[in-house]
Amino acid sequence: MFNPENGFTSDVIKSPDRFVGRTNLVMSCLRVLNSEHSLIVIYGKRGVGKSSLLRQIQQIATGDFTLPKKMSLQYLISEKQRKYLTVYYQCDSLIDGCDELLLRLVNDQDGEDGLLRLVPDDGKELVEFSRAKSVNAGADLKIVKWGTQGVETSRYARTVPGDVVQTFRNFLNSIITHQLNKYGKDGILILIDEFDVIKNKHGIGSLIKSLTSDKIKFAICGIADDVSSLVEDHHSVERLLEEGSMPVLQMPHSECLQILNRAEELFDNEIKFVGEAKEKISQLSSGYPYLVQLFGKACIHELNKYGKSEVDEFVLNAVLNAIKKGEAFPSLETKYQRAIGNSEQRQLLLHLLSEEEDNREQQDLEMGLVYLKNVRKEAVGLEIENMDQIIPRLVDKKYGPVLSKIRKGVYEFVDPVFRIYVNLREL
Ligand SMILES: Nc1ncnc2c1ncn2[C@@H]1O[C@H](COP(=O)(O)OP(=O)(O)O)[C@@H](O)[C@H]1O
Ligand SMILES: [Mg+2]
Repeated sequence: MFNPENGFTSDVIKSPDRFVGRTNLVMSCLRVLNSEHSLIVIYGKRGVGKSSLLRQIQQIATGDFTLPKKMSLQYLISEKQRKYLTVYYQCDSLIDGCDELLLRLVNDQDGEDGLLRLVPDDGKELVEFSRAKSVNAGADLKIVKWGTQGVETSRYARTVPGDVVQTFRNFLNSIITHQLNKYGKDGILILIDEFDVIKNKHGIGSLIKSLTSDKIKFAICGIADDVSSLVEDHHSVERLLEEGSMPVLQMPHSECLQILNRAEELFDNEIKFVGEAKEKISQLSSGYPYLVQLFGKACIHELNKYGKSEVDEFVLNAVLNAIKKGEAFPSLETKYQRAIGNSEQRQLLLHLLSEEEDNREQQDLEMGLVYLKNVRKEAVGLEIENMDQIIPRLVDKKYGPVLSKIRKGVYEFVDPVFRIYVNLREL
């Protein structure tokens, strides 16, 4: 029996071992980390690999160059490559704005990622640890014991009641004063993931600008098609962004194949994907590494079922059949069931909409958009009567949401991976 998780994962990738491709972005990242006064903004579609890239940046920032070395990018690592203490925070939709975000940051007690762990405090014990399993030069700090009085930072950093911006500044300054030298670091890198879910982003850009210095750098990451839709007041950060804007696009075919190659290695070459199976999986995944990983896992499950060690046409077909019946990818199937409810009409329309996209020609121009006018005729043909009543359901959060409205008559699949899944699923 093979454990699918040995080679595949649907989690964010923290280990450089499992991370493939994205060489250009890693190159930019090495440069940006080494430049003063710059901001990193990672954006792209859902499931495309943003958070995994962000975690790799965090790793590199600590001074662990396993990944760039593996990519033969040693020549880009300068002798004085800056190293950072890092803070990582994942936003959620309860954060309504700038103040709430800072409040979360200054209160985050996460032992490996939280800001509070770095603020000096009597009795607090920090140890160095490597974010990758491999032991490397670059280490970050992990808390093993909080201060004697619990979280008590007042001696080094003053908490200013009612002024979270100043408190945040004080915390950062105390880290700069007391920790950077001690641990041989040049600055603090604050990584903020799922930035897109913050309701009101007003003012965050200018705050980031005012805080960014040769010692403090931010990296923000979220779903967006461009920087300006991620950072509302992007004008204030434009100059900081000259190098740090990092669009994460769908993976090229060759990199999807690499995920499968890497998985074979991670299984110690005890399993094998035949060439055609790799090609097919990569092609069906449309550049979404998430899908490659799900396909990979599902293939291993089938291998176990048949006691085989080679993913060939037979195994892949078994997987495709399971997907058709909704049995292979449980998380996507749950979404599917929620979207269609018990309505056959909604199910029909969902399939129609997801196919419509594939038939479009101007794909590059307006990726992922669905034009109702193109669907309407077919819908009538299939006897979907009340299309205009079903669409609002698909936009409703309660059922997904599956679609978001772009403008009148034009919608977008909120999750492109889900759209692909619907196409693979049988009616
Ligand atoms: N560079 C990569 N190499 C291999 N797998 C990746 C890579 N980037 C992402 N993945 C896989 O894709 C999935 C989605 O990645 P994630 O970083 O969570 O995307 P996003 O944050 O854009 O939604 C995860 O299952 C992850 O394992
Ligand atoms: Mg993410």
